[in-house]
Amino acid sequence: MFAAVRAHTNIALVKYWGKKNEALILPMTGSLSLTLDAFFTDTRVAVAKDLTEDEIVMDGKRPDDRSIDKIRRFMDLVREKSGNPAYARIRTENHVPVASGLASSASGFAALAAAASKAYRLDLSAPALSRLARRGSGSASRSIDGGFVVWHKGHDDASSYAEQIDPADWDIQMIIVAVDRQRKKISSREGMRRTVATSPYYPAWVDAAESDLLKMEQAVHRHSLEDVGRIAEANALKMHAAMLAADPPLCYWEAGTMTAMQRVWALRNDGVPCFFTIDAGPNVKIICRKKDTDRIVSDLSDYFSAGALTVSGPGSGIRFREHF
Ligand code: DP6
Repeated sequence: MFAAVRAHTNIALVKYWGKKNEALILPMTGSLSLTLDAFFTDTRVAVAKDLTEDEIVMDGKRPDDRSIDKIRRFMDLVREKSGNPAYARIRTENHVPVASGLASSASGFAALAAAASKAYRLDLSAPALSRLARRGSGSASRSIDGGFVVWHKGHDDASSYAEQIDPADWDIQMIIVAVDRQRKKISSREGMRRTVATSPYYPAWVDAAESDLLKMEQAVHRHSLEDVGRIAEANALKMHAAMLAADPPLCYWEAGTMTAMQRVWALRNDGVPCFFTIDAGPNVKIICRKKDTDRIVSDLSDYFSAGALTVSGPGSGIRFREHF
């Protein structure tokens, strides 16, 4: 009645932004991501009959009430599915470089889904685990597998899951530019709700996302860094355009976000193939080849501190472990 799991985070190259079912976390569109090696979460779950509620320790302390609430609701789902009403001791450590400014809900719920389902003896297949992780946080469905992963939007709980489409065993890297390390002011959950409800560009985003996904899958299969990068950058800009048109407007960018974007464009003008993507926060993730990493990092070092730049290769899927 104990399990320990490591899960890596992922960055979407074709974004998930908007739900058609809030309770089940069914997305409006399919999405595609790259799992990253440099960022992961280790989680242990031990079922304990003596507890009167789940005991949760995150990075050595009690997390905030919002996180506790989300984790407890997720554990209730695991208890319901397993028929075992016992509570659990949950210990989780996020190995996300402090400087990266990356959120950890994708790796966090992927690790929790895998560890909890094993501790409660659910015996789930990879797609079933992805579906379970999805109930914690949509993007977590894409962190069960490594490499390039597609989350099929599906039409119900059974059909909405993610799976690997390519192991990413070719030359692709990401440089994470931490523009601001503070927790974002408007969560993805709230931001997407507002965009769906009020942005006049939201229907255009849905159309664009569907066709970007098809093009991106083909680009990944061709191992074309240029096409993957170009589609990812355009897709992120379209998502941010829909956000900007929401009421009240959602602008996750800061001055440093724009600086990083402009450096990417300038480097590209100089013949360096690099492209950016941006999520619901100010940080910028740059897609490039290994051999160009030093050149890009050295260019960015004129604008950002060395600690704000993290380089990562593709990461693997979840791993069960003996202990941490
Ligand atoms: C911009 O998965 O954090 O990173 O499902 O409400 O928990 P919830 O949202 P979340 O949203 C991620 C949004 C994104 C794009 C992406 O990862 O696809």
